[in-house]
Amino acid sequence: MEAAASSTSSRYSYEDYKETADWLLAQTEQRPKVAIICGSGLGGLADQLLDRTVVKYEEIPHFPTSTVPGHAGQLVFGTLQDRECVCMQGRFHVYEGYDVNTVTYPLRVFSLLGVETLIVTNAAGGLNDSFAVGDIMIIKDHINLPGFAGTNPLCGPNDDRFGVRFPCMSDAYDRELRALVKQVAEEQGCGDFLQEGVYCMVAGPSYETIAECKLLQTLGADAVGMSTVPEVLVARHCGLRVLGVSLITNKVVLDYDSGEKANHEEVLKTTKSRTQDLQRLVSSLVSKI
Ligand SMILES: *[C@@H]1O[C@H](CO)[C@@H](O)[C@H](O)[C@H]1NC(C)=O
Repeated sequence: MEAAASSTSSRYSYEDYKETADWLLAQTEQRPKVAIICGSGLGGLADQLLDRTVVKYEEIPHFPTSTVPGHAGQLVFGTLQDRECVCMQGRFHVYEGYDVNTVTYPLRVFSLLGVETLIVTNAAGGLNDSFAVGDIMIIKDHINLPGFAGTNPLCGPNDDRFGVRFPCMSDAYDRELRALVKQVAEEQGCGDFLQEGVYCMVAGPSYETIAECKLLQTLGADAVGMSTVPEVLVARHCGLRVLGVSLITNKVVLDYDSGEKANHEEVLKTTKSRTQDLQRLVSSLVSKI
């Protein structure tokens, strides 16, 4: 069932990305400027697109396939509020056994399609005491914890056709887009559960221990999850503007006396209840980009 990710070549050439992009351009008339990565349980956003062209990952040359329950595994081209978009319904994770080059493969393809803005969503655990389950957190910055140990998709020879050797990340999460999403949230009455904070990536798939959660809090993280950061690194490298949004689907366990346990079903349940709000937020935002 699991794809043999470890045997997949971890290095892709410019020609591979180009071949995938050209193949996709031949499947659809759409020329999206916005790409949206739908996180766990947030794939419903892609269902709202009109004039859709749906392409299964397994049909796409060089594309990896997704193995997580709740992730559909297809690219959906279409319009959201009359704007042409491409949605990833299902993404790839390091914990599935893919290396980071595979996880981030779609981003360079999007860049070659002409995409200029990436909107990335995820489900995350809340570390900040003032966050509640169901809050929507705009990502203002990230901590690439696996990156500290060398897991960075930009490691290896740099291809200047995509970007520079040492890309800046202090401006990874676009200030203007963050301001815009706050404005849209206020207009929609979502302001009460909108937060802004730092997202920390861990590799997973095991959830964090109590000691690890305390560590992440100390590091200044507000939310923790197992995705997003590799995609953002590659997107920024090739010059895309990025907006990241986390849905806080659970609070991490920080108390040794607590009987609570993190579980994937809880994540999917919370996601379901706040999905509508998040979808409205993203779709209104898209109309203003
Ligand atoms: C938690 O979030 C609140 C509200 O966004 C923020 O003011 C505060 O600085 C955060 N706390 C920590 C410890 O980062």
